[in-house]
Amino acid sequence: MKITFLGHAGMFIETQYGSILCDPWFNPAYFASWFPFPSNEEIDISTTAHPTYLYISHLHQDHFDAAFLREHVSKDAIVLLPDYPLNLLERALRECGFTHFIATKNGEALALNGLTVSIISLVAPTDGPIGDSGLTVDDGVTRIFDQNDSRPVDIERITAYGPFDAHFVQFSGALWYPMTYQYPPEMQLVLGAKKRENEMARALQYIQHIGASAVFPSAGPACFLDDELFQFNDFDRSKTNTFPDQSVFVEYMQAHGLNNGEILLPGSVLSIEHDKYSVFTPQNMLKQEVFTQKRAYLEGYKTRMQARIDAEKQSWPVGQVDILSSLIDWFDPLLQQANLLSAGVNGRVLLDCEKHKILLDFHQRRVSEWQQQECDFVFQIAPALVEYCILHRIEDWVNHVFLSCRFKAQRKGAYNEYVYTFFKSLSPERIQYVERYYAEKSLAKQIMWESQGHRMQRYCPHMKGDLSRFGIIEGNVLTCTLHGWQFDLTTGRCLTSENYYLSIQSPAANEDTQTQDDAITNTCHHCWHRTLKSDILKSDTLKSETVPDSVTPPDNAILPLASTD
Ligand code: FES
Repeated sequence: MKITFLGHAGMFIETQYGSILCDPWFNPAYFASWFPFPSNEEIDISTTAHPTYLYISHLHQDHFDAAFLREHVSKDAIVLLPDYPLNLLERALRECGFTHFIATKNGEALALNGLTVSIISLVAPTDGPIGDSGLTVDDGVTRIFDQNDSRPVDIERITAYGPFDAHFVQFSGALWYPMTYQYPPEMQLVLGAKKRENEMARALQYIQHIGASAVFPSAGPACFLDDELFQFNDFDRSKTNTFPDQSVFVEYMQAHGLNNGEILLPGSVLSIEHDKYSVFTPQNMLKQEVFTQKRAYLEGYKTRMQARIDAEKQSWPVGQVDILSSLIDWFDPLLQQANLLSAGVNGRVLLDCEKHKILLDFHQRRVSEWQQQECDFVFQIAPALVEYCILHRIEDWVNHVFLSCRFKAQRKGAYNEYVYTFFKSLSPERIQYVERYYAEKSLAKQIMWESQGHRMQRYCPHMKGDLSRFGIIEGNVLTCTLHGWQFDLTTGRCLTSENYYLSIQSPAANEDTQTQDDAITNTCHHCWHRTLKSDILKSDTLKSETVPDSVTPPDNAILPLASTD
């Protein structure tokens, strides 16, 4: 198997049974905020123009580059579609001109004339743009797992296709927290450090659970080249920056006893046969200064991209739209349908677009002009970006405005995922799906497990992360390391996000129950990361019972140290 790394999450996989083009990203994303890092300008894109198969993991713009797909990828390619409940990705690809599709089933093997692939699809409203996925590929000799930035919770479903020879995984933020929040500088540093640590520790846990022979950090970080955002780059390995690069992460892996991390640069060619591999990087792509003189490297990149950034900004609409009346017409009918979502937000959101101040009242379920009402969330967004979203009827503002980091935010209390879920569900179809999802989740059957004298639900209330794998208990607090949510084990209350509870029961009397303590073999001195035994929890220790999800909102908001904004 030969894999040409295209930068970020992009790769071109060649086998004797055909090729797969995955997530090619070349054009700036999110209002020209994000650019591939390191730059992939010098890749010869004609070499990837005729893949047998095309795999786009999800609709985020750094994975779904519509302009590139339209202009540079043959429409003979057969698209391998993740198993998403809404066919948004298929529609977007059809608009790019693709007509051949294979609809995969979540986690099921698919035989493709000698190749075997499976796509692990995630479908919670919080999974990417309502849908995120990873891909396994097996050509009979070599097996790889392209996790990219997905966060699968059912690890056995993936390892069933292993053992893997290569694992491609995200380790660095694709986020706007905490930089866009108007916290005092000291607090920004503390929150940034925590977020950076959480991101890398989560990747490390995935690496351990997947257990591939070689690990290739991918899918981030992007770089910010616009003057307004340039300071977000991690120029000098700051411990408080949320965008550590590949060189930092490979060292982090080594500090935790993992010496199988390898950096691929855009253009690097990985030749891999079972667990043996070699990497060849063409001379023109070999740029050591990418990591050693990063500020100078990014300054040069920025100069080359300045015209594109300027053109993007000049294209934004100004004064073409009546923002208030447009949002009333658009959002009011959605709010009427959003029963569970509105209950989850349980407050008021102010859109502060300079002279336009718009109130989204999730109690009254209506949009109106702001009359100085107290608000729980405030977003300051340039009117031009809101006008753009209105004119283009953007149904997912997370995939445009929020990931651009071109806004400022304030909030009164803890992270509230429902607020962002609303902004990515701006169509009747999306709202109905989200409402269905939350309704089914509240009826879901809970499986309980025990650890350190606590008996609690096994799957995290956030996105069903398996707490027997990803949960760490310290004192009376359980941390789910998938996204850093924390729960008070006395009350079950979520300390990270409002309106979430972990089901807690008195511990079972059965002293034979295997506990997490048995499974932990080693504790890191740098952080909370632990090495786990492979047989961390045997199924006979699990007890299946029906326990309703707790939905009572907490009395007081707590400012969290970890958040998943
Ligand atoms: S699944 Fe996200 S914090 Fe647990």
